Amino acid sequence: MWRRVASLSHILSPSKSSALHQGICRRTVWEAFTTDIMHPAIGGVASEEKNPLITFVLGGPGSGKGTQCAKIVETFGYKHLSAGDLLRKEISSNSENGAMILDTIKEGKIVPSEMTVKLIQKEIESSDNHKFLIDGFPRCEENRIAFEQIIGMEPNIVLFFDCPEDEMVKRVLSRNEGRVDDNIDTIKKRLKVFAALNLPVIKHYTEKGKVYKINGVGTADEIFKQVHPIFTELFVK
Ligand code: C5P
Ligand code: MG
Repeated sequence: MWRRVASLSHILSPSKSSALHQGICRRTVWEAFTTDIMHPAIGGVASEEKNPLITFVLGGPGSGKGTQCAKIVETFGYKHLSAGDLLRKEISSNSENGAMILDTIKEGKIVPSEMTVKLIQKEIESSDNHKFLIDGFPRCEENRIAFEQIIGMEPNIVLFFDCPEDEMVKRVLSRNEGRVDDNIDTIKKRLKVFAALNLPVIKHYTEKGKVYKINGVGTADEIFKQVHPIFTELFVK
């Protein structure tokens, strides 16, 4: 059973998004929709016995999403699904879409939503777990709407790691994971895409009272001190 705890309301903080950014998003959603997305299988994963608990984990590149997800997995037993990792797995498994996904990632752009949602759906359906952290998704309104249509549910909560751009750039440039998009040119593009397309998603869920905004500056342990009570106090396990 789910229970919202009033004492957590102080970490709820509405995000700002300009009309311009919303315009970009709306156009993207409209132009990119396929009939498949508009006519999903009724109910999706949500109608199955599993009844998953979904947390979306959002924030710019280098905001600490992956690090905090690892801690949540360790402490609370969630299954971590990183949209970026699922897409990179598609590239390395030489799938038919691999080359297109690689080009998109190199440009810091967003892969067509249906593709990413289908990868997430496969993971949810094949997992024994019912508690999911979906990291780096939805990246834009098109992603969000595709998820809600295909999976047939909204997230229970959304974590937003709020971090200044200069701190995010510093972290990404020093992490040395061999990623094709961790260079200054692509990082700049990713930051622009984040501001234009991801902030409207955060705004949408803030208006629905689902967003927990976390100060993403500090050590991993310091930041986890803000994350921990959300999972211990928010829900009766
Ligand atoms: O989240 P992460 O930084 O691992 O994402 C890397 C890249 O993967 C993004 O910059 C984007 O090109 C792609 N991506 C995407 N759609 C998502 C998540 C990631 O296209 N929902
Ligand atoms: Mg990551």
